Amino acid sequence: MSKIKYARLALIFLLPLAFVFSQCIQSTTKPVDARGAAYAGTATCLKCHKDVARNYFHSAHYLTSRLAVQATIRGSFLPDSNTVVFNDSIKVVMEKHAGGLYQAEYIHGKLKRRQRFDITFGSNRGETFFYWKGNKVYQLPISYYLSLHQWANSPAYSGDSAEFDRVIGRRCFECHSSYIKNMPAIVGVTDTTNLFDKKLIILGIDCERCHGPGADHANFQTENPAEKKPMYMTRISTLSRQQRIDFCSQCHGGNTKIMTRSIFEFKPGDTLANFNSGEPFHSYRDPSRIDVHGNQVKLLSSSKCFFSSKIECATCHSMHDKPVKTLQSYSQHCIGCHSEANHNFCKMAAKIGPAIKNNCIDCHMPVQTSHAIIINSGSNKVNPPFLARTHLIAIYPEESQKILEWMRKRS
Ligand code: HEC
Ligand code: HEC
Ligand code: HEC
Ligand code: HEC
Ligand code: HEC
Ligand code: HEC
Ligand code: HEC
Repeated sequence: MSKIKYARLALIFLLPLAFVFSQCIQSTTKPVDARGAAYAGTATCLKCHKDVARNYFHSAHYLTSRLAVQATIRGSFLPDSNTVVFNDSIKVVMEKHAGGLYQAEYIHGKLKRRQRFDITFGSNRGETFFYWKGNKVYQLPISYYLSLHQWANSPAYSGDSAEFDRVIGRRCFECHSSYIKNMPAIVGVTDTTNLFDKKLIILGIDCERCHGPGADHANFQTENPAEKKPMYMTRISTLSRQQRIDFCSQCHGGNTKIMTRSIFEFKPGDTLANFNSGEPFHSYRDPSRIDVHGNQVKLLSSSKCFFSSKIECATCHSMHDKPVKTLQSYSQHCIGCHSEANHNFCKMAAKIGPAIKNNCIDCHMPVQTSHAIIINSGSNKVNPPFLARTHLIAIYPEESQKILEWMRKRS
């Protein structure tokens, strides 16, 4: 064989290899987003949006779902505080083993089953946990409640026994994560409600879950660094009030309608009505019977302030500013519309005195207790204080009386 022929052969063999290598390098340095090439991934967004990064990693949105490792679980695994007793015979113990962290059920002291903490859900007031059984996701029996600083029965579980069987479907992840993909039915598994592809999950609510796919935007701004106008990216501040409310409502509007499309596809500017059939999924519950879900959109939009002004979520909440706000700073938004000068100030102002400026909230948006969570202590069933702030801005005579008395005692 001539030298030329060798060279040609080498080329024929090396070219595809070089291609394969370049693909490997590409896929290790820049993994394709599970949602496809239209998405750039949070790391890319943060290269340019450093201001947003400062608060994002502490935000409830980012933290709302994450891998369950010791650092993301606030409950204790120490022997004096790692046990939930259901009754004389049944208890669940939080245990550390070589393979991870587990919830183990004991009946009369004998191990019945043990499942691993795999995914943590929730951050603000409580944490609940899921485990993988093959490619299926289920909820663990025990959650952690921040207000109690202790472990207790998971929301809506009966409390009479340890339940490991609640199926966690895609719907939970649609509001609490950025992406998850159901797998098609396989031999022996026909119910695919909670059957997922483990490799295609994006936990936490990321930039593009809210802002929509951003690869075109990121590429354009990278190639045109002098361009200060955003291209291929919707400015949420330019949308209509209804569009902005729909945007929050996809997750904060309750799970009340039968969905016809996944809200993973929802982008700023979309109309939420195009994602559901309008048919009720759960009939709207009495607002005083909240579970862990406050349905702020429904409540705010039932308030007089809502019909009579342009009030919306963004009046009081901004997504990327300092996350911690005080009741006093929230009250400034009320005072922005309600003042002596506008002749629509609080009728109680004279009774309350100057302290009124510190807190409109506790009287007009009182916290309410969830009834969905039950803790057993022997034969007693107790509702732990799992509090939610009602977004129905209104007059609450009973709460107001309590707050008034509390204010008098303090002064
Ligand atoms: C190469 C830099 C760069 C990258 C990468 C980048 N952006 Fe931008 N982005 C900009 C610039 C420049 C603007 C326009 C100036 C501004 O508003 O900050 C902008 C504007 C925006 C806006 C509109 C702000 C407004 O005024 O309402 C949003 C939202 C946004 N980017 C989100 C993202 C997301 C999400 C990602 C990741 C998918 C991303 N950006 C990646 C540079 C970048
Ligand atoms: C993709 C779903 C999703 C969207 C869109 C969304 N949220 Fe949330 N939001 C959540 C979830 C889930 C939580 C609960 C986080 C937790 O505690 O685990 C949350 C928590 C919050 C909190 C409590 C945060 C805290 O730190 O106490 C506020 C306030 C909030 N959202 C406001 C909004 C507003 C306003 C909008 C619209 C601009 C919005 N959210 C859009 C899902 C969403
Ligand atoms: C329609 C969107 C939506 C769906 C569906 C949904 N959630 Fe939520 N969830 C939220 C929002 C928004 C919050 C923030 C708290 C609130 O609304 O008061 C929240 C709060 C929670 C919390 C309390 C977190 C905290 O720190 O306060 C838990 C736990 C939780 N959800 C679990 C679940 C589970 C489990 C499912 C599925 C059975 C589920 N959620 C389905 C939107 C949703
Ligand atoms: C829960 C939904 C949500 C998430 C997650 C989210 N954003 Fe936003 N973002 C908004 C909303 C809503 C606005 C409009 C302004 C507001 O309400 O504060 C906004 C505004 C912006 C702006 C305009 C400038 C500003 O601060 O107002 C930029 C830039 C931006 N977001 C980038 C990002 C990046 C980068 C990430 C990921 C690190 C991200 N966003 C994650 C909802 C979100
Ligand atoms: C964007 C302006 C705006 C903001 C912000 C606002 N309101 Fe209002 N609110 C109104 C308007 C307008 C009405 C209708 C009053 C009227 O008819 O005079 C109203 C009505 C009310 C009412 C009467 C409710 C009833 O059922 O009779 C109360 C109480 C109230 N607001 C308290 C508050 C409190 C407390 C806050 C802050 C948490 C607040 N508002 C924020 C504009 C606003
Ligand atoms: C008039 C001001 C105001 C408006 C408008 C408003 N909120 Fe709130 N929001 C509050 C206050 C005050 C709290 C309680 C904060 C605290 O206790 O630290 C709160 C708390 C929350 C929480 C945390 C859950 C809880 O029970 O504490 C969520 C989620 C939330 N708001 C979402 C929304 C959404 C979505 C909208 C629009 C539909 C909205 N809010 C409109 C004032 C407002
Ligand atoms: C101690 C509880 C308490 C506090 C604090 C409080 N309010 Fe009120 N507010 C009430 C009660 C009770 C009423 C109904 C009084 C009545 O009808 O006689 C009322 C009535 C109102 C009304 C309705 C007036 C009307 O025309 O019917 C508005 C608006 C209002 N408050 C706004 C505010 C604002 C804004 C703040 C904070 C600056 C505030 N309130 C603080 C208890 C309170």
